[in-house]
Amino acid sequence: MLRFVNLSRALALAGVLVLPLMVPQIAQADPRGKAENADISRGRYLATIGGCNDCHTPNYPETAGKVPESAWLTGNSVGWKGPWGVSYPANLRLSVQQHSEDEWIALASSPLRPPMPWFNLREMAEPDKRALYRFIRSLGPAGQAAPLALPPGAVAATPVISFE
Ligand code: HEC
Repeated sequence: MLRFVNLSRALALAGVLVLPLMVPQIAQADPRGKAENADISRGRYLATIGGCNDCHTPNYPETAGKVPESAWLTGNSVGWKGPWGVSYPANLRLSVQQHSEDEWIALASSPLRPPMPWFNLREMAEPDKRALYRFIRSLGPAGQAAPLALPPGAVAATPVISFE
């Protein structure tokens, strides 16, 4: 009996010693995959707290965020009407497919129609912008392109939220 206890203790101890040695080996086996996963989680976090879903995901504000991730960032056909005309939150799931990472980052930080807060996004640290792009790309393409923006004074065929 005493022997048995000692054996199981010895095994448990060996487990404790071996496990920490194994973990770094597993991590080293696929360092790129690990960095990618970290980027994707960070991108998901940034998209959530950065409010991207508020405009780019249908029904997100109305349901207090209870929209499955499969429908996130697919754009919105409810327009925003103001002195700039009518703008539609783009389908980011499609836009990341059409642009390389660098192109998308430049696009997301250059002047866009209101109410897109491009001036806030411009200030985001570059690694964070890359993480956002990688997260959105990881979701895959989905949905339809948002309607094209309209010039000032044009009448929209879709529902609009009016700033006027
Ligand atoms: C208040 C609403 C609103 C919020 C919040 C918002 N957007 Fe937008 N976004 C828009 C609108 C409207 C457009 C279309 C602008 C235009 O037509 O010039 C747009 C356009 C874009 C574009 C250009 C895409 C293309 O393919 O033309 C990118 C990229 C983008 N948004 C990224 C983001 C990201 C990332 C976030 C979160 C950090 C975000 N947006 C938050 C409303 C919003």
